[in-house]
Amino acid sequence: MKLKKGFDEMKYFLGADHAGIKLASFVKDFLKHKGHEVVCFLPQEKKVDYPDYAKEVCRAVLKNQDSRGILICGTGIGMSICANRFKGIRAALCLDAYMAKMTRLHNDANILCLGERLLGEGIVESILEAFVDTEFEGGRHLQRLEKIDEGAHV
Ligand code: RB5
Repeated sequence: MKLKKGFDEMKYFLGADHAGIKLASFVKDFLKHKGHEVVCFLPQEKKVDYPDYAKEVCRAVLKNQDSRGILICGTGIGMSICANRFKGIRAALCLDAYMAKMTRLHNDANILCLGERLLGEGIVESILEAFVDTEFEGGRHLQRLEKIDEGAHV
């Protein structure tokens, strides 16, 4: 895989259920190649429950300042529903690079959710490039993020 080097090196927590494990291996290689640290929460068993992995990654991201997470399941939906129950987590399910770029710029998403059953490696590569290399715009978006956390109870 020939990839250009990205911006600042970061710590990524990567989690997947059994339906996301193949894509997780591609994502891990991508991030490592870019010089990022990757800590994996991946299943050994044939069938597992995606919330267990979403919770591990969310807790790790919340504990480690400036880290980010990537969660993969069959559709990415279950992972994103679970992750967004955590106060301080902004998990974005992205289907293309535009969504990944915008969720970094406007939402400061700290977790990217992907669906292995929907996406080929080419699209995933472009999503990762955008998510990893785009900085939050701040400004008017900051107060909107604060409003998300107001009233969140987890
Ligand atoms: C597992 O079959 C599947 O339900 C899970 O990976 C995910 O897509 C749930 O949202």
